[in-house]
Amino acid sequence: METKRALITGVTGQDGAYLARFLLDKGYEVYGTFRRLSTPNLWRLQALNIFERIKLIPMELIDSASITGALMISRPHEVYNLAAQSFVGASFEQPVGTGEVTGLAVTRLLECIRHADPGIRFYQASTSELFGSNPTAPQNEDTPFMPASPYAAAKLYGYWVTRTYREAYNLFCTNGILFNHESPLRGLEFVTRKISNALAKVKLGLEQKVVLGNLEASRDWGFAGDYVESMWLMLQQDGPGDYVISTGETHTVREYFEEACAAAELDPSGILDVDPKFMRPLDVDLLLGDSARARQKLGWAPRVGFKELVRMMVQADIQRWKRWQKGEQFPWDAFNYPSEMNIITRAMPV
Ligand code: NAP
Ligand code: GDD
Repeated sequence: METKRALITGVTGQDGAYLARFLLDKGYEVYGTFRRLSTPNLWRLQALNIFERIKLIPMELIDSASITGALMISRPHEVYNLAAQSFVGASFEQPVGTGEVTGLAVTRLLECIRHADPGIRFYQASTSELFGSNPTAPQNEDTPFMPASPYAAAKLYGYWVTRTYREAYNLFCTNGILFNHESPLRGLEFVTRKISNALAKVKLGLEQKVVLGNLEASRDWGFAGDYVESMWLMLQQDGPGDYVISTGETHTVREYFEEACAAAELDPSGILDVDPKFMRPLDVDLLLGDSARARQKLGWAPRVGFKELVRMMVQADIQRWKRWQKGEQFPWDAFNYPSEMNIITRAMPV
């Protein structure tokens, strides 16, 4: 039987790395697109020990010629579109750029696929942020969308154009409406990793406080390693569809912080500050997903629960900072962030 080929856009991101490993384990030939930056961001692929096994292709989501090139090189059976400006906070600062990359680029990709090979199965990384300000909970595939950020508005466009290409051209185009999913490979700008990383530094005496924004927002947090399996399952079905992927449990940011303190064996009192600069012009209060359709049709279910997830993230960051204190070198993202570089420079081991 012919080896299956997959093309993952955004392979350098959290989900891209876990999905690449999952597909390699399934025997796929995995191609991944990355953007040419002055400093390549390959630490996640190195951390999962799969860097050598992925065929990397430089691709620009704003350049159709480069998308066509990536499709010609990889000749994929499946395309997973994970690349996006994915940080909701930044979308308020770069609303137009976010619209280009997170929204309009989906059409560019679909047009290229339609002309290159209409047999390709396409996965679009849609999101629970689509539900936005809708107070209905839990949210499922029939809950009306009320996006509450430029990011969510761009993703709404991506969601609908995916459905449009499914219906207009009979392409296999599927939306995974994934609720928040986290891991030790999460970017440091997202609240869960921000907390685990900050608590690791507090634990080791490198920092005094954790400084956050809105503590009352509630999220349905799962483990990214579990969620990438659902992406693959969606593309193995007889036909395309839209699926909510979630745990069915919700917790506030404050609860996440308290659980993380317990995991780090730290007293939460006195180490948390709130700074309005981390508040958004508009925030989503409550996300809680009902993934009954995915559980029934895909046979998917999350394996890692909330407490285990928090522990996994906190332990991973404590280990990283300990390894750094010992002078070890290993794949890590702290060097990409000015806030972390300040500490690294200040507390350089002698
Ligand atoms: P992530 O870690 O932020 O990864 C995003 C990927 O997109 C990275 O590979 C990044 O490349 C790439 N990218 C960003 N801007 C780009 C640009 N201008 N041109 C080309 N590539 C660009 O995000 P993630 O958590 O893995 O999420 C994957 C996808 O699922 C995203 O579309 C996200 O919006 C969506 N999603 C995520 C969640 C979640 O909770 N994680 C939930 C629902 C939906 P660099 O490495 O070069 O930055
Ligand atoms: N990032 C961040 N930093 N968020 C904070 C902070 C802080 O210091 N303090 C409080 N929060 C709150 C945010 O205001 C938000 O309500 C919540 O924590 C979660 O923020 P993020 O971790 O940045 O994630 P998100 O929910 O906005 O978006 C993530 O999940 C979406 C799916 O629902 C991203 O992964 C999106 O790409 C994804 O679509």
